[in-house]
Amino acid sequence: MGYVRALSVRDLTPGTMTRVDVNGKKILVANLKGAYYAMGDICMHRGCSLSNGTISGENIECPCHGSTYSIVTGNIVRGPTTKPEPTFKVKIEGDLIMVSV
Ligand code: FES
Repeated sequence: MGYVRALSVRDLTPGTMTRVDVNGKKILVANLKGAYYAMGDICMHRGCSLSNGTISGENIECPCHGSTYSIVTGNIVRGPTTKPEPTFKVKIEGDLIMVSV
């Protein structure tokens, strides 16, 4: 397990999120007021892409049926999902956001 380049910090302004494909995994990366977090992008309920949903503080709401996860912990904030998302370590190298997958 090592850190892999995900995207440039310039491409992720505070309060936004995006999906990146890293080593075959679909990862959601978000910028919370300059702190970066990463978790799985595929909703554990029925597989919708969470990066197409909405971000409010640390909470990510799925666009399909409203499941909400904390991107800080991956934990469920609101169902219908019954499974949390995996989270991934993030570090910054220069202007690159690196994700450990
Ligand atoms: S697929 Fe995300 S809430 Fe149903």
